[in-house]
Amino acid sequence: MKLLLTGAGGLLGSAVSALAQQHGDQCHAMARPALDTPVAALAAQLRGADLLLHAAANTNVEQCEREPDACYRDNFLLSELLARAAAQAQVPLLLVSSTGLYGTADSAPYREYAATVPTTHHHRSKLLAEQAVLAAAPGNLVLRTGWLFGGAASLPKNFVARRIDEARKALAQGDSMAANTEQHGVPCWNVDIAGRMLALARSGASGVYNCVNSGTATRYEYVQAVLQLAGIALPLQPGQAAGFQRIAQVSPNEMADNWKMRMQGWPEMPHWRASLERYLQSELADY
Ligand SMILES: NC(=O)c1ccc[n+]([C@@H]2O[C@H](COP(=O)([O-])OP(=O)(O)OC[C@H]3O[C@@H](n4cnc5c(N)ncnc54)[C@H](OP(=O)(O)O)[C@@H]3O)[C@@H](O)[C@H]2O)c1
Repeated sequence: MKLLLTGAGGLLGSAVSALAQQHGDQCHAMARPALDTPVAALAAQLRGADLLLHAAANTNVEQCEREPDACYRDNFLLSELLARAAAQAQVPLLLVSSTGLYGTADSAPYREYAATVPTTHHHRSKLLAEQAVLAAAPGNLVLRTGWLFGGAASLPKNFVARRIDEARKALAQGDSMAANTEQHGVPCWNVDIAGRMLALARSGASGVYNCVNSGTATRYEYVQAVLQLAGIALPLQPGQAAGFQRIAQVSPNEMADNWKMRMQGWPEMPHWRASLERYLQSELADY
């Protein structure tokens, strides 16, 4: 396949790019277009591709709360422009979205038929992006994922590596470390998500899918698993959301269930803990 990819330098985009090349696909990084680019000019750039994978986003949820105009520009308006251009070029578009947009209605993992009631500007901007993409062409695909981990330890946003740093520092200074017991989600390995994204796209899937690893965790359970698998013997203190002073009122339930994939006979995704172990034993082995 000939793929065009936005956000190719990001956590997910870098895994998509690497996997696509392993599969023998051509995968070209697409530079971020200016919002005043004429749709026809952008469509001309897209023509001839088999798929546009839109993984670029403003992922700083706290900053989105402080600067909503920039958030909706980066996430909603850019997606809308790409969707219009892709429709004109007759290229299907895959948008990466977020399980955080379901909101607070339930305490169980959300299925795709649940209502979406986003609680932050970031998640509302992702929902508006989804609506623009789905309205532009019936064959477009939206994948909702969350709590991504993976990539090089040097990436500043590498959640796993930063928790290892934090734990080592706490051990050295005789401090304690805490994690939130109230925030629920599904840790997702960028490699697993990238692989399933490409498989779904190849199958011609369309509409909205949750796309997460199997299992669920609190942040506390997740960080505890990181420390255990990294062999760091630091007792982790249970913390509550109020102690982490976030501006964005992210739903305490970002869990999702790959219900639609299961209904359609797709194999289960690997359990997040098994993937975390594989990640620590591979890319982070020397860290
Ligand atoms: N990370 C998570 O836990 C998580 C959770 C749920 C959903 N997602 C979704 O998964 C997708 C990938 O996330 P990620 O974690 O890989 O993100 P990331 O590591 O923050 O990378 C985002 C990428 O998007 C690019 N970008 C940002 N703003 C842009 C704009 N206005 N125009 C074009 N490119 C722009 C960035 O380019 P520069 O480096 O040049 O800025 C970067 O390459 C996103 O759609 C995100 O919403 C992520």
